[in-house]
Amino acid sequence: MSNSRLIVIAIDGPAGAGKSTVAKALAKRLDFFLLDTGAIYRALALQASRLGVAHSDGPALGKLADSLPIRFDAESRVWIGSEDVSTAIRTPEMSQGASTVSAHPEVRAALLGLQRQLATAGSCVVEGRDIGTVVLPDAPLKFFLTARPEIRAQRRFDELRARGQAVGVDLATTLKEMQERDQRDEKRQVAPLKPAADARLLDTSDLSFDQVVSAMEQAARSRLAL
Ligand code: DC
Repeated sequence: MSNSRLIVIAIDGPAGAGKSTVAKALAKRLDFFLLDTGAIYRALALQASRLGVAHSDGPALGKLADSLPIRFDAESRVWIGSEDVSTAIRTPEMSQGASTVSAHPEVRAALLGLQRQLATAGSCVVEGRDIGTVVLPDAPLKFFLTARPEIRAQRRFDELRARGQAVGVDLATTLKEMQERDQRDEKRQVAPLKPAADARLLDTSDLSFDQVVSAMEQAARSRLAL
């Protein structure tokens, strides 16, 4: 597709709704690039932990976010400076950490411009919590993915297991932590997790991965005339 018409597809929703895998596959099918905004909050939480900045300290986190040396490479790996942190940011600790740091208004303000700027690099699929509502409200196509909590927890647990990060973690704990995170993401003052008024809601609980991606691809091709 030509670069003269840059298109953004926004995908929001809670943890475990299938956003990441689906967004990746959709981007590939459409030959768009993928922007995983959760990775930015995760990288900030990791950097804060390493530098001894408390996840409760909004002003300090805002400053850290202003100069966070984060970048994504062509394979969507995440770098802080010269270190590939793609795996380090995917632990349960960093899931909670990202949710905590992302609730601070200073952090959200600091990372807004970065997300918008990254989204101008080409046509892209952008996934997060507030993409359709706040970051890119003019996106011509928006999805909000959901699934029942038990299903989302099972998916998260399977992901952790597949990455060898499930040691000492069980399904019940994963469910509990996910529900805490949903609560925090939905209740925060700035840019809470919620569907945009013009988002297409998709409950993925009883759909296969392929059904979800195909439905989204079809919507994209007809809505955006791709
Ligand atoms: O999508 P994820 O699980 O990697 O996101 C981690 C946390 O980052 C999530 O619990 C809330 C926060 N987040 C956010 O507040 N806004 C976004 N656009 C993306 C993620």
